Amino acid sequence: MRIAVVEGDGIGKEVIPVARDALELLRPDFEFFPVEAGYGRWQRTGTAIDEEEIAMLRSADSILFGAVTTPPDPGYRSVIVRIRKELDLYANIRPVKGEGFEMVIVRENTEGLYSGIETVEEDRACTLRCITRKGSERIARYACRLAVSRRDLTVGHKANVLKSDVFFRNICIEQAELAGVPWKEGYIDALCLDVLQHPGRYDVIVTTNLFGDILSDVAAYLAGGLGLLPSANIGDRNALFEPVHGSAPDIAGRNVANPVAALRSAAMLLGHAGDPCGAAVIEEAITRVLARGVRTRDLGGSSGTREFGTEILREIRLLQK
Ligand code: NAI
Ligand code: MG
Repeated sequence: MRIAVVEGDGIGKEVIPVARDALELLRPDFEFFPVEAGYGRWQRTGTAIDEEEIAMLRSADSILFGAVTTPPDPGYRSVIVRIRKELDLYANIRPVKGEGFEMVIVRENTEGLYSGIETVEEDRACTLRCITRKGSERIARYACRLAVSRRDLTVGHKANVLKSDVFFRNICIEQAELAGVPWKEGYIDALCLDVLQHPGRYDVIVTTNLFGDILSDVAAYLAGGLGLLPSANIGDRNALFEPVHGSAPDIAGRNVANPVAALRSAAMLLGHAGDPCGAAVIEEAITRVLARGVRTRDLGGSSGTREFGTEILREIRLLQK
């Protein structure tokens, strides 16, 4: 397995080395190669990512990705949004687990409001929300495949207002019925609140790009914060694993970022690579280290990113014996 490692910007440079060390320890047979991309590179060289790096990512069996800073500059195109589009990583999978609940948010990752079809004029700016049959069918099918072995599917949308969501909703329900998956639906705004109030009611939730982005940050509250949530971006040929959080410039470079989201992303990478045991070892190491009270600042502790990483490696070694 050849793994491309993109640390990116900010805390990506701190949490990804921890995740990579864990992977290296578990899988000495993996080959890792770095790919430089992000705002820092843009500031230095004038390009955030080139065709050459896209080709390197395409050639990898898997990608471990940190986070990239996207300045609110109209001339700057988000690196991660570009990678998802170019590699056609259409399914963004965001598991959120906690006491008494275990949901998976399945977010469409290539179209909707992030299609990039935009015009900016003097007195108005427009972003086109484009939802296609192909895009909706494949994300609905992906969500149904997950839901078949679980409980049910919830379709999150705003079909009371958006025609494009009537279209999306109908396709999701069509696919759920074809797959024999019990389904329900919710308006995305109400769903954001209900997920917090009754997390146990939710199993697999499928939704469009922006709504899934928002819903997963909302749901992060249930799991203890952004520092804990991993994600997978899956396409037919490539797969990229990254924490849900961003580059966190407010805490970057201070050795306080929580590396658990990055470690869990590495565990998802192993699961996808056909190594569920390796994935379970990482999860168990995290559980044990947290249970010992070793925690980063966001969880009320005082452990640094690197020190937390050292404890994880220690637990992995013990679990390997
Ligand atoms: P963010 O996720 O970077 O940070 C939000 C808040 O959560 C901050 O207060 C941060 O300190 C905290 N936080 C995040 N991860 C943490 C961790 N591992 N441990 C402890 N605390 C953590 O989101 P924000 O501030 O909206 O965006 C910052 C930059 O990141 C922006 O440039 C944005 O575009 C980019 N971003 C990139 C993403 C990606 O590369 N996939 C995803 C989300 C944002
Ligand atoms: Mg987000």
